[in-house]
Amino acid sequence: MSKLGIIDVYFSVQGFQEDDVRGKTVVIIDVLRASSSMIQALNQGAQKVIPVEDMAAAGRIAQTMEPGDYLLCGEKDGIKIDGYHLGNSPLEYTKEVVQNKTLIFNTTNGTKAIKKAALANQIYIGTFLNMSQIVNMIHECDDEVVLICSGWRGKQSLEDTLCAGAILSELSAGKAPTKLKDGAKIAYALYQQYGDFVLDTVFHSDHAYRLRDMVSEDDISFCCQTNTHEVLPYMKEGIISVKKN
Ligand code: MLT
Repeated sequence: MSKLGIIDVYFSVQGFQEDDVRGKTVVIIDVLRASSSMIQALNQGAQKVIPVEDMAAAGRIAQTMEPGDYLLCGEKDGIKIDGYHLGNSPLEYTKEVVQNKTLIFNTTNGTKAIKKAALANQIYIGTFLNMSQIVNMIHECDDEVVLICSGWRGKQSLEDTLCAGAILSELSAGKAPTKLKDGAKIAYALYQQYGDFVLDTVFHSDHAYRLRDMVSEDDISFCCQTNTHEVLPYMKEGIISVKKN
């Protein structure tokens, strides 16, 4: 029996206040590409992901660990950070590279959204890749649920909002769940409009254009796959790992 309650959607890191998520369950969505890369990394056997707000925090955490146990991962404005082991392409996160490693992750919007949601009761990472895991979790959830789209530097992103809408649609087998707040109604309506053309829609999003000159188009196709990854990344005490049933 589903416990589906009130659901809202926020559209960027700057679009919510810390207190907006206090005591709620949040899902952090950054389709292109931070959430997708984390989901891929954990699916490929990474032990944990430590999201950070900036390079200084990443450096401080790295200093407490043995070299060889961790990888510095992430981007600034889409480009791999100088001196980091990996950038933010999910295709880099193969089993050979990430298995049993701790990934210290630093990105322009996605990791900032995760850190800003610290007052939430529970924090999950979701995208198209693990949508059914997120949908099942929401059906079981006693809290009010907030889907946080990371967006881009304070602005909404089409791909994140579309993913939030896809999750909402999936929750009630295509119908709008009953207790949607305004943000969730907007995301649901967007998905009704573009849901049959996710890949094409995301390919023509602002962030896909932004990434076009820097990364392979394969990144975008990869991030638009639905339900290919059966992992539910969950954050506890600042560390993201796969939630076991
Ligand atoms: C972010 O956190 O803003 C993104 O993941 C940027 C990117 O596509 O690399």
